[in-house]
Amino acid sequence: MTTSDLENDGVIRAYDRWAPIYDLVFGGVFREGRRDAIGAAEAALPDGGRVLEVGAGTGLNLPLYKPTTRLVAVDLSPGMIAQIAKRKAQLGLANLEEVEVMNAQAMTFTDDAFEVLVANYVVTSCPDPEAALDEFVRVTKPGGHIVITTRIGANTGLRGRIEKALMPITRRLGFRTDFPYSRYENWAKANGQVELLENRPLPPLGHFSILTYRKTANCNNSGVK
Ligand SMILES: C[S@@+](CC[C@H](N)C(=O)[O-])C[C@H]1O[C@@H](n2cnc3c(N)ncnc32)[C@H](O)[C@@H]1O
Repeated sequence: MTTSDLENDGVIRAYDRWAPIYDLVFGGVFREGRRDAIGAAEAALPDGGRVLEVGAGTGLNLPLYKPTTRLVAVDLSPGMIAQIAKRKAQLGLANLEEVEVMNAQAMTFTDDAFEVLVANYVVTSCPDPEAALDEFVRVTKPGGHIVITTRIGANTGLRGRIEKALMPITRRLGFRTDFPYSRYENWAKANGQVELLENRPLPPLGHFSILTYRKTANCNNSGVK
């Protein structure tokens, strides 16, 4: 284990602490990425299909979906899940069908369960990002889309050095700053069941991107657009 690794217990502790103030700190910062990711997800969703939001946090994204979009939300942190329950009580969100504490790296859903999966600002928080990404593919139907909003680390240069230096601090806060795009490239190659449809850097600085993958394996008449 290296100093850049996260562990489940540490992530749970960190996000249970973030939960009451998360919207205040991160609500505005990530607004654009959330909106674009949800647009991409809904564009790929066939009628009657379901979206799984992994690492849904306090549920900031959930009211941004159309009221007709069927949603399931999971997160590792019970504190975050409690905030989603509060939001559901306040806003209704009748399209939110299921909310559960669940580890993205070992989900209890059956294979091919969802038409679209969304993971906004989650992968770099997962203790084992590649295991989580494999699970994203497993629970998505063939032909379905996986929409990921993520930090893309610089790897080299001054920004790369700063991101590496920040790791001992950000790790305690529950996320990685040091996460180069090559991690996604290497994972996709090893997984072998995804095709990258889009890598769209987000303004203002392009340090975050929306990555959209399509699950290619066993592609058949799944009805997914
Ligand atoms: C930066 S927050 C993003 C929350 C939300 N998606 C958003 O857009 O605001 C990262 C979230 O990922 C969750 N998370 C981290 N590792 C996870 C895992 N292995 N399984 C499920 N959720 C996880 C954390 O609990 C936290 O709620």
